[in-house]
Amino acid sequence: MKIVITSGGTREPIDPVRFIGNYSTGKMGAALAEAFKGNDVVVIAANSEAEYKNARVVKVETADEMLLAAEKELPCDIFIAAAAVADKKPKYFYKDKIKKSKLKKIILIPNPDVVATIAKGARRPGLVVGFAAESEKHLTNARRKLTKKSCDLIVMNDIKALGSDENEVWVIGKSFEKKLQKSSKKEIAIELAKIIRDNYGTGKLEGSSKRKRAGTS
Ligand code: CTP
Repeated sequence: MKIVITSGGTREPIDPVRFIGNYSTGKMGAALAEAFKGNDVVVIAANSEAEYKNARVVKVETADEMLLAAEKELPCDIFIAAAAVADKKPKYFYKDKIKKSKLKKIILIPNPDVVATIAKGARRPGLVVGFAAESEKHLTNARRKLTKKSCDLIVMNDIKALGSDENEVWVIGKSFEKKLQKSSKKEIAIELAKIIRDNYGTGKLEGSSKRKRAGTS
């Protein structure tokens, strides 16, 4: 199977020395790439020093670049969006360093939603898995993301997981829910890969069997 994983954290440049970014390290994406060894794994990695074993790595910086790289990898069987993507980007990029006396206001415009665009596209992968990083109303927000982003599964974790070696997640589907106890990201990735492998194609995880699919075969 071809599995595409987004990982790391996007950076949105303001000028040559400044950017909008986040604390994501790509550890969860790296653990997932390893957990799916034996498959054709592609990692679209944004600003991550993590080691991606058993995977072809496509390096990107911004959300726009991540979406472009993801679309180039279609069709694929499974798409897993483990990256922390900046939701907004500066409207203007200044090619010279902005002097601090002039740095008063940054106008932000929306970035594309990578996982939602892939999930709603004509070449939708067989299974689309999103993550949800929450600090409040965890399950409610995660269920909302499942529908809004047209994912089959949402892996919800608290924002404490960002940069940590450990994680505790809830795997949420339309008719599927399972808590994976606190463990190393490697262990969580192995359990997640098992859930996906055991149920892929059975209809148990997919949000709706009526949706258009575009597999690699
Ligand atoms: N995601 C994405 N593109 C974006 C934003 C998020 O692909 N522009 C993906 C992430 O990779 C993750 C999921 O959407 O799989 C949820 O990301 P999260 O940061 O939890 O949610 P947001 O969409 O940013 O929403 P909010 O800020 O309201 O929590």
